[in-house]
Amino acid sequence: MLTSYSSANSFRLATVGANRLARMLGEWNSGEAALHTQLTGGVRELIASGALASGTRLPSERSLGSALGVSRNTVTKSFDILRGEGALSSRQGDGTYVSTTQRSPAVQADDRLRSFTEGVDLDIIDLRSAALPGLALVADHFDMLESSRARQLVAQHGYIPSGLDELRDAVARYYSALGLPTTYEHILITSGAQQALRLAASSVTEAGSTVIIEEPSFRGAIESLRALDVRLVSIRSGREGIDVDELAAAVARERPALIVLQSTVHNPTGSVLDTFRRSRVATIANRYGTPVIDDATLADTIIDGDRRPVPLAAGSDLVMTVGSMSKSFWGGLRVGWLRAQPEAIVELAAIKGGQDLGTSLIAQLLASHLLPQIERARDERFRSLSEARRLALEDLAEMLPEWCPETPAGGGSLWIKLPAQCATSFARRAERLGVRVLPGATFSARDGLDNHLRISYAAAPAYTHRGIELLAECWESHFSRSTNGL
Ligand SMILES: Cc1ncc(COP(=O)(O)O)c(C=O)c1O
Repeated sequence: MLTSYSSANSFRLATVGANRLARMLGEWNSGEAALHTQLTGGVRELIASGALASGTRLPSERSLGSALGVSRNTVTKSFDILRGEGALSSRQGDGTYVSTTQRSPAVQADDRLRSFTEGVDLDIIDLRSAALPGLALVADHFDMLESSRARQLVAQHGYIPSGLDELRDAVARYYSALGLPTTYEHILITSGAQQALRLAASSVTEAGSTVIIEEPSFRGAIESLRALDVRLVSIRSGREGIDVDELAAAVARERPALIVLQSTVHNPTGSVLDTFRRSRVATIANRYGTPVIDDATLADTIIDGDRRPVPLAAGSDLVMTVGSMSKSFWGGLRVGWLRAQPEAIVELAAIKGGQDLGTSLIAQLLASHLLPQIERARDERFRSLSEARRLALEDLAEMLPEWCPETPAGGGSLWIKLPAQCATSFARRAERLGVRVLPGATFSARDGLDNHLRISYAAAPAYTHRGIELLAECWESHFSRSTNGL
């Protein structure tokens, strides 16, 4: 069933976990005032901006204290002040809430996006975003805009919600070459993979639907699904990808409306699902008639193994595949796509039309010339990413031997297991020393994974190297000893 997309921006946050609130608070304690005064100011600001919505249940004082690395007493004092101001209220035996007289929520931006929205701070090494710089090839193709085809397009009105035919064709050829027969009718061009993900999810769920998602998962997927007000059930995902046994049991038990996963280069773990697991996932989808969104945005950044695996959708028509130009060529194009059955594409094109009337034809025209050169893009990404990954792993082994990074099969970031549940407070300390990283909870639908960090190696190796040096200093001076023996 297709549900109205208009409700998708109403982000409801009924409870906020300690780690999440700690991340939302950002640099709350960089001033000179007493800690509880600074904390009071930070929470007050979050309420005033609408980031903490009326009625939101706050974490316990003890758990927030531990996520922030301060005493419980500091949090108690701060909450007392805010209660006195009427910003917070307590229900006997049921915790502390943002008072319902406070402002209502705006959409909640997460740490993942702050690296894009904050602007560049040259004094801080930012290892949060794994977004890759564009290929020079992209700018080389700007001349294309002089072409007669561009003139022909400009002579028309330019509103094409389903996308430019030649790009839909190019995407169809891209999938056919991977062993998944595809025609342009299977393809909807979108404004990046992010829009494709959200459109696809909204087409098969309604408020209250159960959706299975990986733990950890791409934050953009978690946010899109939360915005649709669905119920999330998390399934473990590790170095081999989603745990297929757990998935089979959960689908049998929960009968979800949708499964969302990343078969081909997972963000944040960097895993690629092998052939056997792919076919098992497809079998589960077919057996229960469950739609699947396979977000394969990073598919062209594989470093290890087969660089052109057959897409999961080859095993089931129920799989909708999300793809993008962002990781292979350039995120700034804002061109992605959804591959699904033609009937679904027709309906989704109508919904997309209602949202934005279509993606820029200029960007699509460029993309239609670039995509046929995907093999070249894969080679370039392979060369730069394999070297950057090698150097980052060497640095970590030397400077942070207590940490356990997974070796990702692709992508531009490392998923690292820490010896203790301290990622949120570590990320906070590290920021004060001049380096930013994402704590594991950013990738968790249940605010867990505080024993993991994701660090990007997408930037120049010297930049990543300096970042890792600072992380090691921070670890050595504040965490190393306290986590010994854990
Ligand atoms: C797994 C995954 N899906 C989707 C996206 C969004 O991609 P796009 O830039 O095409 O919207 C990203 C970007 O980081 C991603 O990592």
